[in-house]
Amino acid sequence: MHFLITAGPTREPLDPVRYLTNRSSGRMGYALAEMARDAGHEVTLISGPVFLPAPTGIKLVKVETAREMFEAVQQHISHADIAIFAAAVADYRPVIKSEQKIKKSAATLTLELERTEDILGSARSLFGFKGCLVGFAAETEKIVEHAQDKLVRKGCDLVIANDVSQPGIGFDSAENAVTLCFSDGRTQILQQQSKTLLASELITQITRLEPRDR
Ligand code: CTP
Repeated sequence: MHFLITAGPTREPLDPVRYLTNRSSGRMGYALAEMARDAGHEVTLISGPVFLPAPTGIKLVKVETAREMFEAVQQHISHADIAIFAAAVADYRPVIKSEQKIKKSAATLTLELERTEDILGSARSLFGFKGCLVGFAAETEKIVEHAQDKLVRKGCDLVIANDVSQPGIGFDSAENAVTLCFSDGRTQILQQQSKTLLASELITQITRLEPRDR
């Protein structure tokens, strides 16, 4: 099978030397890509800027901004049977990217931000993706409720939810604990473990998901 996986943060430029980003390390997405490859699948990994080595045997597409990630997914998703959106895409970007470095002047500076493209939310509606769709949900409360709502709104087969209020797991750490929310309403907790072990279990579960009629 062919996997398309997004990973890492995006960077939204403010001026030639500054950008808005987040603490995503890319580890979860890269671990998923490597596990899918090791299970014998073809993998396209669309990655924001990370400090991880490029995995061998995987087609790596490097992007910086949410718009570039959106365009790369749009270009490659038709070849995929399974799409996993593990990237921490910025939800907002500065309305204006200054061509020159912004100089300090007044005591306060207000930035105007606009929504970025919702890549996961475009998979079904805009890209017409009919394969197995997996999203992530970083939540701080009502984890299952919010994840199930996301699953329905974005047409996912599975949403992998993690509680980002817990220290030591998730963003920018080597371990994670997640709750799987399936489209039939079933949920399953995967206890705290390394992202590598977790990725192996996730790839096994994802490849077993029954294709649904669309
Ligand atoms: N995602 C995406 N494109 C975006 C933002 C998020 O593809 N512009 C994907 C992430 O890769 C992840 C999931 O959507 O799989 C995370 O969704 P989130 O941003 O939490 O979704 P929202 O429904 O926008 O929820 P919230 O209201 O919590 O922001």
